Amino acid sequence: MAVQMAPSILSADFARLADEAAAVAAVADWLHVDVMDNHFVPNLTIGLPVVESLLKHTGLPLDCHLMITEPDRWAPAYAEAGARNVTVHAEALQSPVRTLRLIRAAGARAGLGINPVTAVEPYEDLLAEIDMLLLMTVEPGFGGQSFLDLVLPKLRRARALVQRHGGSVWLQVDGGVSEDTIERCAEAGADVFVAGSAVYGADDPAAAVQALREQAERATARSAWHG
Ligand code: DX5
Ligand code: ZN
Repeated sequence: MAVQMAPSILSADFARLADEAAAVAAVADWLHVDVMDNHFVPNLTIGLPVVESLLKHTGLPLDCHLMITEPDRWAPAYAEAGARNVTVHAEALQSPVRTLRLIRAAGARAGLGINPVTAVEPYEDLLAEIDMLLLMTVEPGFGGQSFLDLVLPKLRRARALVQRHGGSVWLQVDGGVSEDTIERCAEAGADVFVAGSAVYGADDPAAAVQALREQAERATARSAWHG
């Protein structure tokens, strides 16, 4: 599957979200939207009303990453609103199968997110219920943090698991993805790349997306996992 690029608006200007989405619309695959509730993570961002507004102003598919304590209660509404992907965190889910199925039933793709030290193996049986596995490569909550190399062995194990199950689940990395780290991620098995500060901190966000994509594509082509 091809490399997917998902710039994160967490590092964009929240007062100009439509313009910030437009800045990457021609080059991004999805727009990554970080929903934080100040409980699951120590930060507060945006929620459903902003997602609904943003949907009216961008043609980019929205990739909603819910860092909230009650994903079972809130996630289906993001799918019903029109988000293309809705990712919920394993650490917060009470009823993973039911919630992932509700997301899909509402017409979105279902993503399962796991924090840096959450093991991936317990979720092998959920692979048939998801379209994407999100491996956090920083502790969730803030943009601009340093990439955690300690996640790379888990990323390789996750790639092996996904390949064993047919290879159709996307593997997304989120946190500290930049020109310095994206090749390591692609080589280890990621095929969806979230980048916040590396995109919106650049003078030309669209050029930054393109440069990161090219790096990821080159690294994927030379990687062992990519058949
Ligand atoms: C962090 C968020 C990320 C964040 C990444 O908890 O989930 O999506 O925007 O930002 P960077 O790319 O700056 O690490
Ligand atoms: Zn995110």
